[in-house]
Amino acid sequence: MDIHDKRFETLSVTHGEHGSTMSDVAEDVVVPLHLTSTYAVGGLNPDADLECLDPDAGEYLYSRLSNPTRNALEHRLAAMEGGEFGMAFASGTAAIVSTVMATVQPGDHVVAFDDLYGGTKTMLSRLFEERLNVDVTLVDARDVDAVVDAVRPETTLLWMETPTNPLMHLCDIEALADVAHDAGAKLGVDNTFVSPYFQQPLALGADVVVHSTTKYLNGHSDSVGGAVVTNDEELAGEIGFLQQVGMGNMLSPFDAYMVLRGTKTLPLRMERHQENAMAVAEYLEAHESVTAVHYPGLESHPQHDLARRQMSGYGGVLSFSLDADLDGVEQFLGALREFPLAVSLGGVESLVEHPATMTHSPLTQTARDLLGISNSLLRMSVGVEHVDDLLADLDRGFDALDASGATQTTPSASD
Ligand SMILES: Cc1ncc(COP(=O)(O)O)c(C=O)c1O
Repeated sequence: MDIHDKRFETLSVTHGEHGSTMSDVAEDVVVPLHLTSTYAVGGLNPDADLECLDPDAGEYLYSRLSNPTRNALEHRLAAMEGGEFGMAFASGTAAIVSTVMATVQPGDHVVAFDDLYGGTKTMLSRLFEERLNVDVTLVDARDVDAVVDAVRPETTLLWMETPTNPLMHLCDIEALADVAHDAGAKLGVDNTFVSPYFQQPLALGADVVVHSTTKYLNGHSDSVGGAVVTNDEELAGEIGFLQQVGMGNMLSPFDAYMVLRGTKTLPLRMERHQENAMAVAEYLEAHESVTAVHYPGLESHPQHDLARRQMSGYGGVLSFSLDADLDGVEQFLGALREFPLAVSLGGVESLVEHPATMTHSPLTQTARDLLGISNSLLRMSVGVEHVDDLLADLDRGFDALDASGATQTTPSASD
């Protein structure tokens, strides 16, 4: 379905910007930041249906329900994902909880990727399983048959991320959409890691797509937000109800303004993130102190063919294992100047994080071992800086590791 008639690079700059400003003083080129919480309605209108206000027709009542700045962003998000209905949330987490909530009832069953973002896993177990009596089965969704085997008559949702965090595993969106639909369930895909510029799950058959806009869509590590896009009108109605009334977890006008601004450079940023990440991945793959590199753009990635089929690019996140114990990892990290040690990803600046003690520390050691998250694994969000400075910084890290003589845990690849 081609419901947006321009190319991605045009939609990401201008879609939603014009004709939505309600401005009566100037023809703004950029949608203004509407900070009002309420709107004067002019007089009593006993016939108005307050549940069906149309912001596009200038019908505003209260900013939790709709707001012109948020509305402009919601149109843009939908356009960028190739969908009809877009909704902006206070965080990626708010987007996910509302979407899952809209697709399950007590007694239902969800099948989810075992390598999901840690917060989503915790949400599925502590909120949905423990409080709301929704059963959740985690499976290695790289294997479509494992997902088929996990589906039950009461399965209403398949919840996936691709690529996953931090091991960059992929799942086959098209194949899983068939599995979901054969079972009468919905497929939801968290598309945060590569953005709609490189992957569009709705076009591959997914029913609903979510983002943490905190990452690439905003792109500057200065706003927290989330997004949902779908073509399913009924589902959009349910998710919209939760956003505006059931939970009230919509995005603030200020953050909507930030994301509108961020999306304008998304295509440019993503190209540079990918170029730099590929250079870093190739550098690491050739280094004797690195035992594994996980980046879907590398031909050595076990799912590189799937990546080429369902993504038009591979993004800026990668992970790798140092041939070193925790002391060695600390020496390496301590020498880096261009990669601050910090969680999150998708900003213009490079970051590095240590999953075992940071993002994945809530998991038990056994769970980390099962997933393959060892103490020597590092995740990098490669930014848009000059690649030579990034590679020189990595040289510094490896020099520090060599100088420390920290334990080499395995024979190097060249041995
Ligand atoms: C893939 C993925 N989805 C969702 C989230 C949650 O987003 P937020 O932190 O905006 O709530 C994150 C956060 O790191 C993430 O990496």
